[in-house]
Amino acid sequence: MEKVDVNRIQLAYERRGQGTPMVLLHGFPLDHHLWDEVLPLLEDTFDLIVPDLRGFGNSTMIDAPHSMDDYASDIASLLDHLNIQKAAIVGHSMGGYVALAFARQYPGRVGGLGLVSSQVLADAPERKEGRYKSAADVEANGIGSVVEAMAPKFTAAEKLQAYARESMQRQQPSAYIGALKAMAERADSTDLLSSFHFPMVIVHGDSDSLIPIDRAREIKATLPQAHLVEIQGAGHMPMMEAAEKTAEALRHLA
Ligand code: MLT
Repeated sequence: MEKVDVNRIQLAYERRGQGTPMVLLHGFPLDHHLWDEVLPLLEDTFDLIVPDLRGFGNSTMIDAPHSMDDYASDIASLLDHLNIQKAAIVGHSMGGYVALAFARQYPGRVGGLGLVSSQVLADAPERKEGRYKSAADVEANGIGSVVEAMAPKFTAAEKLQAYARESMQRQQPSAYIGALKAMAERADSTDLLSSFHFPMVIVHGDSDSLIPIDRAREIKATLPQAHLVEIQGAGHMPMMEAAEKTAEALRHLA
């Protein structure tokens, strides 16, 4: 992986393919490998930039709180480094929250937006409180209970659950804590949708038990021109459960 110094951290990223620049952002608490299955399906059309968000995978973090805006700023600095002005920004779940923060801060740099298994809503108060409890639990006891709680919710497919567990176990406790707090404090992005004058693709599994499909349908109802692809039988990892359908949907951002 390449690495670049941005915002006092080292951001690691994969780059492959040729065509329209497209950034693929992983969700919580994973890393860029989440996208491994779709990269070969998109590399003939897109210049794919696939980072590890700060603290995750091979990217470092600093010992200070950060926000969704900070993750987004890291991505803007990475694009600066690559001399890319505008890109399609695609995010999975928490990566979608980062994509929305990016669109809020840098609207002129968004060529298209993809939300995969994500949502525009902020946390309800009880969810927010749950995030802080999880962060305190990780601080005191490590990542084990978050991993065990999340793995079965990612997907019903046992093989992929094992993958998700392994991927979650690779990540640092500090990355969990930083991300849980950043997610708890994220803004509601519903108001942002009406300002979108670029193509938008929404991909969601109809069996997602972490973020229900209704969140995707609500976005489509607010923004009828968005291209919504509902994937029958998929859970929270459509890019692995249904890589071809996910890639086909993302091609609308070319
Ligand atoms: C994710 O998959 O990134 C998280 O489950 C999102 C969330 O907890 O809101």
